[in-house]
Amino acid sequence: MIEVEALTKVYPGGVEAVKGISFTVEPGEVFGLLGPNGAGKSTTIGMLTTTVKPTTGTARLAGFDVASQPIAARSVSSVVFQEAVVDRSLSGRRNLELHASLWRADGANIEKLAESLGVADLLDRPVETYSGGQRRRLEIARALVSEPSVLFLDEPTVGLDPRIRHELLDVIDGLRSRRELTLLLTTHYLDEAERLCDRVAIIHRGEIVALDTPVALRATLSDIVELRVEGDGSHALAHLRECGVAGADAFAVGSTLTVPLDGRSAAATMAEIEVLELRLTALSTRRPTLDDVYLRLTGGRLAEAA
Ligand SMILES: Nc1ncnc2c1ncn2[C@@H]1O[C@H](COP(=O)(O)OP(=O)(O)OP(=O)(O)O)[C@@H](O)[C@H]1O
Ligand SMILES: [Mg+2]
Repeated sequence: MIEVEALTKVYPGGVEAVKGISFTVEPGEVFGLLGPNGAGKSTTIGMLTTTVKPTTGTARLAGFDVASQPIAARSVSSVVFQEAVVDRSLSGRRNLELHASLWRADGANIEKLAESLGVADLLDRPVETYSGGQRRRLEIARALVSEPSVLFLDEPTVGLDPRIRHELLDVIDGLRSRRELTLLLTTHYLDEAERLCDRVAIIHRGEIVALDTPVALRATLSDIVELRVEGDGSHALAHLRECGVAGADAFAVGSTLTVPLDGRSAAATMAEIEVLELRLTALSTRRPTLDDVYLRLTGGRLAEAA
C-alpha cells in the first residue's frame, strides 16, 4: 500500500531532513515511524501526502507516485497533522461537512463516524469548546470522512494527559478493525509504538537505523542489569568493563548503567557488581525495552532527545 524507495529531502538552505529511506507497508498494516524531535518524521509524512516535494527517490501510495501522480496519490490517503487544522469557531459537524464537500465525499456517514470516535454528543458545539483529546478525535473523524485507504497520523497523542492519551490509543487501535485501512503513524513514545504497531522503523537523523516488529527489535537485546551509581556513571562503566562484567554493548547515561547480560547469569553478574564497591543507589534486572534498542542504535535516549 505504501512503497518508499531511497527517498531523500534536502530543504532549501541545505538541511538534509531525510537521507535515503526505504520501506514498504502492507495493506491493513499499522506501521510506526519512531524517532526524536527533528528525526525527519513529519518531513516523511509531508512527502507521502504530497505537501513536501521529495528531492530524490520515489514514494507510491496504492501504486500512485506522489511526485508524478499527486492527485491520485492524495485521493487514497488522509492525514492528521501534528498541528490542529479544524476550524475552531465552527461546530464539529460543520467541520466534518466542509471536509466531506471538499472531498466530494458522502456526508451521510458523518454521524456514524462521530459515533465510532466518541464525539457524536459534541458535534453541534463549536470546536473551541472541545478538550484537547476531543479535538484530536474530531480530527481523526475528519480524516476518515473521505474513506481513505491509508491514514497518516503525525504524533497523534502529543500534548495529551496520560489518561486521555490512553483513551486515544484505544481509539487508534480500534481503527485496526477497519480492515481496509492502512495506518502510518509517527511518535516518540515507545509504549505507543509497541502497543499500536505491527512494525516499527526507528528513524534517527533522517535515516532508518532499524525496522522490524517491536518483539523482534527487543529480541536483539538480552536481559539487562541496570544499576544506578552516585555521580557520573562512566567511571563505573569503565570499571565494570575492566573486570569483565560489562561488554562493549553496555552503556551509561548520566548515573544509570545498562548492562546487557548476553547469556551470563543475572545472579552472578549482580553478585560481581556488589563486591566492586561502586556506591550503588539501585541495582535490578529487567527485560529490554525499545528504548534500549534505540539507545544502542543511536547512542541517545529517546525521551531525553524528545
Ligand atoms: N520547511 C523547512 N525548511 C528547512 N528545514 C526544515 C523544514 N521543515 C523541517 N526542517 C528540518 O528538517 C529536520 C526534520 O524535521 P521534521 O519536522 O521532519 O522532524 P520530526 O521528526 O517530525 O520532528 P518532531 O518530532 O519535532 O515533529 C529538522 O532539522 C527540521 O529543522
Ligand atoms: Mg514532526
